[in-house]
Amino acid sequence: MKKVLVLYYSQSGQLKRVLDRLTEPIRQEGNVEVTYCEIQLEHEFLFPWKKEAFFNAFPESYKQVPQTVLSPPAEVLNTKYDLIILGYQVWYLSPSIPINSFLKGPYAQTIFNDTPVVTVSGSRNMWVMAQQKIKTLLKEVNAKLVGNIALVDRHINLVSVITIVDWMFSGQQRKVWGFLPKPGISEEEIANSNRFGVVLRDYLLKDSYQGMQTELVASGAVEVRHFLVSMDKKANRIFKVWSTLIYKSKNRRTLLKIFNYYLFIAIWLVSPIVHIIHLLLYPLNYRRIKREEKYFQGID
Ligand SMILES: Cc1cc2nc3c(=O)[nH]c(=O)nc-3n(C[C@H](O)[C@H](O)[C@H](O)COP(=O)(O)O)c2cc1C
Repeated sequence: MKKVLVLYYSQSGQLKRVLDRLTEPIRQEGNVEVTYCEIQLEHEFLFPWKKEAFFNAFPESYKQVPQTVLSPPAEVLNTKYDLIILGYQVWYLSPSIPINSFLKGPYAQTIFNDTPVVTVSGSRNMWVMAQQKIKTLLKEVNAKLVGNIALVDRHINLVSVITIVDWMFSGQQRKVWGFLPKPGISEEEIANSNRFGVVLRDYLLKDSYQGMQTELVASGAVEVRHFLVSMDKKANRIFKVWSTLIYKSKNRRTLLKIFNYYLFIAIWLVSPIVHIIHLLLYPLNYRRIKREEKYFQGID
């Protein structure tokens, strides 16, 4: 009997729905036992978000400052799993605070040690550098990353900025102004995510994950948009400065307000200009972009 742990955090329940659908083929397999474990913090983040709390989460999210996590059930701590499916979301270009806290906390080493892990992220669209941070965290608990599935909101970047923020602040996945698309991973994509589960199940039963990520990528598990990769990298450098400044500051509230304005200008004024420059330079950077795309689709 194979044992699979689905370890996850999800505020809106979107990622839980993805995981439910994705693990369907695995759960239907008689020879596999699937256990769910939701990550819980001592002090939960409220959903929907209040604007102040949303920005207040920035420095600790980006700097990956852990909080206290509640203990998983004894059964989870005492079982050696054949595979862990880790469901996470991105907060400020980093793994969300609950995920980061769990991976840095007192229970992760016991659960993850020497265990194959498939990461499943459900984010807006900027997940690439957060996945790099997840790789580091998994290495620190001696886990073996064997697969990655990154599901995103596939609408135009600036559209999803508006619609996802509305969702986070209202708690409703609705059509902003009546005509913008609903935010988040599309219903169709959630419904089709069982195809990834079929791949995972087959490799799990084979007891070897050689070639799995290539198959997952071929079935559409990871889309890398090169402009977003370039933005993600640039924003990480800038967030490093802002988060350090705000984290240490006695004027946290004021600085967070300024950061809020800065983000607005960066997203609505700077990023379209950077996008045009990026497109103009595309032919010159073609080889590097293709190399990066391949790398970020992989698990190395
Ligand atoms: C505080 C905060 C920051 C976020 N930052 C990012 C980000 O940097 N990149 C991204 O793609 N999505 C970002 N998101 C969207 C989340 O990754 C995720 O899609 C959304 O919160 C829904 O996840 P859920 O399953 O927890 O409900 C952010 C969300 C929150 C609440």
